Amino acid sequence: IGVANMKVSVIGTGYVGLVSGVSLADIGHDVTCIDINERKVSLMSKGKSPFYEPGLEPLMKKNIVSGRLHFTTEIQKGLLNADIVIIAVGTPMKDDGSADISQIKQVSLQIAESIVKDTIIIIKSTVPVGTNELIRDIIFSNLSHNVEFSVVSNPEFLREGSAVYDTYHGDRIIIGSDNYRVAECVATMYKPLGMNILITDIRSAEMIKYASNAFLATKISFINEISNLCERLGANIEEVALGMGTDKRIGHEFLNAGIGYGGSCFPKDTNALVQVSDQVGYNFELLKGVIRVNQRQQKLLLHKLKHRFGSLKGKRIAVLGLSFKPNTDDMREAASIIITDKLIEQGAEVVVYDPKAMKNAVQWLNPKVNYGISIKETIRETDIALILTEWDVFKELDLSIFVELMNSPIVFDGRNCFTLDEAMEAGIEYHSVGRPV
Ligand code: UGA
Repeated sequence: IGVANMKVSVIGTGYVGLVSGVSLADIGHDVTCIDINERKVSLMSKGKSPFYEPGLEPLMKKNIVSGRLHFTTEIQKGLLNADIVIIAVGTPMKDDGSADISQIKQVSLQIAESIVKDTIIIIKSTVPVGTNELIRDIIFSNLSHNVEFSVVSNPEFLREGSAVYDTYHGDRIIIGSDNYRVAECVATMYKPLGMNILITDIRSAEMIKYASNAFLATKISFINEISNLCERLGANIEEVALGMGTDKRIGHEFLNAGIGYGGSCFPKDTNALVQVSDQVGYNFELLKGVIRVNQRQQKLLLHKLKHRFGSLKGKRIAVLGLSFKPNTDDMREAASIIITDKLIEQGAEVVVYDPKAMKNAVQWLNPKVNYGISIKETIRETDIALILTEWDVFKELDLSIFVELMNSPIVFDGRNCFTLDEAMEAGIEYHSVGRPV
């Protein structure tokens, strides 16, 4: 395999697959992205991303024009002559919490039938420890041609909303392989990114991904518990987090208290790790606690509302922010889903607004939810406003609009978007997380 441009095929064009494919094309490789969804493929061929991700579309267009980025629904055609095949299909959560690897198995059968030359197969999807070996066995038993192949674990650490930035400025690239020459070849593919590369054995690479997400989720649940204590003891979580984070061993990141973590990764991966632990007879108590704390934290504002109002029947409630975090239209495991549902169950009238996630939200939220057309129209004549996602457009709001437009300016902020001073000066009744009212 040549050093400069490799022929890379990426199967699956979710966040991980598409962003990886586009960035690999951008650093000079010839990339074909394969997806079974025709509508998505036709969109992407025109340089349009199927999801909102800052900076992605310009990069797609640039590399389509340069002829390095292609899209197809035909897996066999898409795999033709590939030096490296990257599997980035979904591993959704099954009802028992474990990861569903059926899509990976399916794709690996197709790869086994399609490859006609020696190929490196990278599994980028998040998969339970041992899956890479399982896939290697499946491919080996189903090969149609007499070729050599190697399966490499190469987990992804990008965040939604900053996926493009993370691809170029990530902290590390993990390459798990049982063959050093193969690992070096994968390292060569990534070399232009100039990132730290760590080569490990396959099982450790698989574990690094789960352990990293579980640790970050633990950090969030931990700070949320400290925040709940701050509320009861009269301390301020922002000051506490600042003071803790200054210790380099702790660090400032992921110490933002709020209404818990959501998204397509932390909930799924923490559950999968617990499930795997149980399977091997190990009781991962800490992580089970992390998950329970998060489920409770997603309902924090509901408890606060109950405490403040008793009944919510007939109240008009504005909800600002629906996506699980800012800069994405992703609604998966967003706290807004359960919160709006419970508000409606309690007889409130709910009107919601999100800068990007409104279209997706329709599939996730209770059908009785009303959709606002702007921030101002959403809060107009409401009794209570909730902030569930810290979008910049909310953080930059002039708080006087709550006073001017609402029936009563009562704001419950699940993401601490404003300082207590700002809220006091504006004259709103401001309830935030882990800080005095
Ligand atoms: C996460 C990891 O950060 C990525 O490294 C990883 O690659 C990705 O999962 C994945 O496994 O694919 P992501 O889910 O996109 O990325 O978003 P994060 O920025 O990590 O946020 C996750 C959730 O935690 C959000 O709901 C966010 O609001 C919440 N959070 C984050 C907090 O409540 N407090 C914090 O201090 C940080």
